[in-house]
Amino acid sequence: MSREPSHDVDFLVLGSGIAGLFYALQVAEHGKVAIVTKKQAAQSATNFAQGGIAAVVSEDDSIDAHVADTLEAGAGLCREEVVRFVVERGGRTIEQLGKLGVDFDRSADGDFALGREGGHTERRVLHHKDATGREIERALLARARAHPNVNVLEDCCAVDLLTAEKSGFSGENRVLGAYVLNSRLGVMERFRARITFMATGGAGKVYLYTSNPDIASGDGMAMAYRAGATLANMEFFQFHPTCLFHPNAKSFLITEAVRGEGGVLRSQSGHAFMDTYHAMKDLAPRDIVARAIDTELKRTGDDFVTLDITHRDAAYLKDRFPTIHARCLEFGIDLTQDAIPVVPAAHYCCGGVVTNLRGETDLPNLFAAGEVTCTGLHGANRLASNSLLEGVVFAAAAAAESIERLPDVPPVNGNVAAWREGSATESSEAVVITQNWDEIRRFMWNYVGIVRSDKRLARAARRTRLLREEITEYYWNFRLTPDLIELRNLAQVARLVIECAQRRRESRGLHYTLDYPKRDDDAFGRDTLIRRGDGRA
Ligand code: SIN
Repeated sequence: MSREPSHDVDFLVLGSGIAGLFYALQVAEHGKVAIVTKKQAAQSATNFAQGGIAAVVSEDDSIDAHVADTLEAGAGLCREEVVRFVVERGGRTIEQLGKLGVDFDRSADGDFALGREGGHTERRVLHHKDATGREIERALLARARAHPNVNVLEDCCAVDLLTAEKSGFSGENRVLGAYVLNSRLGVMERFRARITFMATGGAGKVYLYTSNPDIASGDGMAMAYRAGATLANMEFFQFHPTCLFHPNAKSFLITEAVRGEGGVLRSQSGHAFMDTYHAMKDLAPRDIVARAIDTELKRTGDDFVTLDITHRDAAYLKDRFPTIHARCLEFGIDLTQDAIPVVPAAHYCCGGVVTNLRGETDLPNLFAAGEVTCTGLHGANRLASNSLLEGVVFAAAAAAESIERLPDVPPVNGNVAAWREGSATESSEAVVITQNWDEIRRFMWNYVGIVRSDKRLARAARRTRLLREEITEYYWNFRLTPDLIELRNLAQVARLVIECAQRRRESRGLHYTLDYPKRDDDAFGRDTLIRRGDGRA
C-alpha cells in the first residue's frame, strides 16, 4: 500500500444513505463536502427500505397519536422530548423530501396514500409502492452528485476517526476527520475535516440472518467507540418478523405493510396464531410479533411460518407490492395465490452513538444521524417506519448546528497522526477472515438472538474474547482489506451488544432473557451507556 495522500475538507460525511445525503445537501452551501462511502453510493440500507416513512399528514391523525404509538413501542425507554421533536417535524420532512424530488404515492383524490404497519394505531406511512428507500436514495443521490461542492467518493472505506488524542494535539480530545482505505487505488488516505458527520448505518451483519445489505457491519459504532464516544442501548436489536424463507433468497424483506394491508401470519398447519399473543394481532409491535413467531417455530419444530394475503385482489397486490411480487415469483411463490414462507431476521439496531437534539456526539466536531445513533427516539423497540424520519430530522438538526459552528472551528493544521502500517505484509490466509466472520454471526444468532439467557450470553462473551484477540493480531500483522476492517468492526459491535445485554438483568422491548423475564423499572428503567475504558468491552 503506498503512503497516505491527505485531503482537506470542511465537512466529511461518512455514509451515503438518507442521513448522509440529506446532511451533505444542507451544508454544501457553506463549504466543501466529501461523502465517503465504502461500496457504490446507492448500496445503503436506505435503498432497501420497503415500507416507508411515518409522518402525520392526514387530518384523521395527530401528533399526539404518533407520539403515543412511539412511546408504547419503546417500552418505557423513549425520551419523550425527542419523540415530540421528531414527530412534530414529520410534515415538514415530507415537504423537504418532495422538494428534493422524492415521489410518494398518492390516492385517486390526490392525497398521500398512507399505509399502516405494526404498532401504529393510524394509517401514516408514506411510501413509493414497496420500494420507498430506493426512491429516496435515487432522488437525494442525484442532487448530491449534481452539487458542485459535493464530492462522492465510492469504494472508500472509513477505517478509524482521526482524533486530537491520537495525533498528540493539546486541548480537549476532538475529531479531526478520518483514515479512509481507498480500495480502488489500494491506498490509505487521510481526510482532515473541520466537521465530521457519521451516517454509516447499522450492524445487521453481526447476525447470521438479517434483512440488511452486506454493508451493515457496524463500522460507525465501532469507530466512534474506539475514538472514545459514548454509545447506548446496544442490547436492543430489532428482529423483523417477516423475511422470505428460501435457501437462495438472501436477506429479502417482506414489508410489514403486507400485514398492514391484511396479511395474516399462519403456522404451516394454517392456524392464524397472532390473536393468542396480542390484541393488535398481526399488527402488534414488532418485538411481540417476532417473539411470537420464534415461539411458534420452537413449539412446532417447523422452519418457517407463512404470511397469507391471498384474500386480497390480485391486481391490487401486484400494483401495491411489485418488488415483492417479482422477487417471490423468482422463487416460484406467487403471493396472489400462495402464502409466503417467512422467518424473523435481524433488522435494526436501536442502540448506537449517543447524540443530543442537535445531532452532536460527546466527541467535539463529530456529529451523527441515522441508525448509527441512539437519539432517544426508539427506546427499547423502534416503531416501524420511524427511522427514515429520524434520519432526516437529525441530519437537518446536525446540519443547522454544523453551519452555525463552522466559523469557530479552524481548518485542521499540523501533522495529524499517520496511519501505523508498521511491518504489515500481504496475507495469504483469507480463510481466517471468513472463518471468524461466520463464527461471530452464528453465535450471535444462537446465543444473543430473540430469546437470551445468562448462560448463552456468557458463552457468546467467551467466544468474542478469543476471536477479538485473533482478529487484533491479524489486523496489525497484515495489510488492511475492506473485509478485515469489517470483521474487526463486527467483532467490536458483537462485544458491545453482548456487554449491554449482560448488564440489563430484566426483559424489556427487544431484550428478552429467560433468567429475568419481567420488566424492572426501578433497577433498569434507564439507558445502558457504554464507553471505552469503563467496562470489559
Ligand atoms: C418494513 O417495511 O416492514 C420495514 C420498515 C421499517 O423497518 O421501518
